Amino acid sequence: MCGIVAYIGDRTAFPILMKGLQRLEYRGYDSAGISLFNGGAKTYKCQGKVKDLQHLTNNQDVSGTVGMGHTRWATHGEPSDNNAHPHASMYGKFYVVHNGIIENYAHLKKELIQRGYSFVSETDTEVLANLIENIYLEEKVTAELAVRLALTRVVGAYGLVIVCADIPDALIAARKGSPLVIGVGEKEYFLASDAIPIVEYTDEVIYLQDEEVALISRDGLDLKTLNNDSISPHVEKINLSIDRIDKNGYNHFMLKEIHEQPSTITDTFRGRMAADESKFFLGGIMDVLPKLMGAKRIVMIACGTSWHAALVGEYLFERYARIPVEVEYASEFRYRNPIVYEDDLIIAISQSGETADTLAAIRQVKGSGATILGICNVAGSSLSRETHAGVYTHAGIEIGVASTKAFTSQITVLTMMALLLGSKRKTLSQDDYAMLIHEMAQIPAKIEEVLQKESKIKAIASIYKDVTNTFYMGRGLLFPVALEGALKLKEISYIHAEGYPAAEMKHGPIALIDEKMPVIALAIDDSSYDKMVSNIQEVKSRKGKVIALVTRGDKVIGKMADHIIEIPKCHEAVSPLLAVIPLQLLSYHIAVMRGCDVDQPRNLAKSVTVE
Ligand code: G6P
Repeated sequence: MCGIVAYIGDRTAFPILMKGLQRLEYRGYDSAGISLFNGGAKTYKCQGKVKDLQHLTNNQDVSGTVGMGHTRWATHGEPSDNNAHPHASMYGKFYVVHNGIIENYAHLKKELIQRGYSFVSETDTEVLANLIENIYLEEKVTAELAVRLALTRVVGAYGLVIVCADIPDALIAARKGSPLVIGVGEKEYFLASDAIPIVEYTDEVIYLQDEEVALISRDGLDLKTLNNDSISPHVEKINLSIDRIDKNGYNHFMLKEIHEQPSTITDTFRGRMAADESKFFLGGIMDVLPKLMGAKRIVMIACGTSWHAALVGEYLFERYARIPVEVEYASEFRYRNPIVYEDDLIIAISQSGETADTLAAIRQVKGSGATILGICNVAGSSLSRETHAGVYTHAGIEIGVASTKAFTSQITVLTMMALLLGSKRKTLSQDDYAMLIHEMAQIPAKIEEVLQKESKIKAIASIYKDVTNTFYMGRGLLFPVALEGALKLKEISYIHAEGYPAAEMKHGPIALIDEKMPVIALAIDDSSYDKMVSNIQEVKSRKGKVIALVTRGDKVIGKMADHIIEIPKCHEAVSPLLAVIPLQLLSYHIAVMRGCDVDQPRNLAKSVTVE
């Protein structure tokens, strides 16, 4: 949520910043801006996307070897030129880009107004810029100390890059809550909200920690806590390849990421499945395995698509490991004064590992004695650092705002964990364990087969692209998939879509069925099949249009449904991994046909670092 990029070194900053902003645009795209420092400061910023900023800077002076950039997801103040970052302080001493929210900004703003400050934007960031400047000018302290003093007065979250006009050959970076990575080069530094813009320049990074402030010049980096304690920076090597962050010939990142799933799921398995498919190894949790085996209850915490993955996990853990599971929206859990016991197992699931509510929820239960695991896609993310143990999903960077490959990798990890625990707890027989591992091992090849259905799915998309409402219904393990299918459609095509457990349709939603309403029914050959057949008939009796997802060779549903999409036969335990693929493709093609911006849907951002 909001992307920050900055550079200091001997190269021209402008192209580095612009490329970085393009790479970070998935974090927010309401406005974009840069400031370049070359003697004086030059700021270019506008409402809209990075391409609009590019346009704005055509034929302008973009020289300078120090600079900062920002791509915004609006919180305080609507998307506009004035509200775009960077923000300058009133006397032009400080330039700031910010990701996060200054919660007490109204109070601070009032104070600053009393001291004669006026504001040109509605943002909390401008308040911070002025607060730093006011301390700097009144208390006559260094710029770095003014920043630290100001930050001790701030309530909220921030990832910040700041330049003081009096020392334009230095960047000041600070973090609390919102991520900030520093790439270390040869007499040059690259700063960004994540490592993506940095990898093409260096593979050495420092992940700034909460309440740390870095003063960075070409000659070095001075790292401190807010309280002025020096810290020696921990430089890490990152292993991130550039082709993972390009579209590789696809029109959109989302389509590329959908098609990557056979290989990303294989990457999730890699090194974790015995060659003879008899067992899983999950190195990240082996140390805490005895605690996991003894857990009386599992609480899964997540947001968005990750929450849907958690619901799949609930079915799997209860069925195979026989441990009761509760699945919680992080944002609800944390405000409920939740009851957590020492023998609980908390599993936080997050693609980015930076979702503010998910992080806040695990911080809240930290003192409870419960074991906290993370399932996360981004190495080095806050979630991976703040949990006792965890498992990386290894899906590679996901850029499309609508999550696809991260979802299937999360489910892959959850399935591995549930089966591993089931086998250790002896609630799952060794024969069934081996049979299910074999089923999982076949999933990548079966997804390839589902992807072959794309032209048929596209044809169905062209029939329904103009509808205004849709239902998705499924039972058991495919109920969360119905929720995920509906979320995919609404977030990228702006068509109203709802997912329902099929049996619940009768308790209200069926009243909405008429000849215009498409219902996507997930009706594969599993233990709910007969019930799903009845539910499809109920929809057809009310003249609804049915697009049914069925197991290849199904002879019954084809006669009732308006369209069928076949998936290969599989065990129901692994069926979510196959069933979600056609739903991703259907949403994608409908959104493209409606002319929507698939990779950057309106009002959304990929990484939600505000609460
Ligand atoms: C945002 C994204 C979703 C994602 C959710 C949770 O809403 O657009 O795709 O599922 O955040 O993100 P996380 O990184 O915690 O999985």
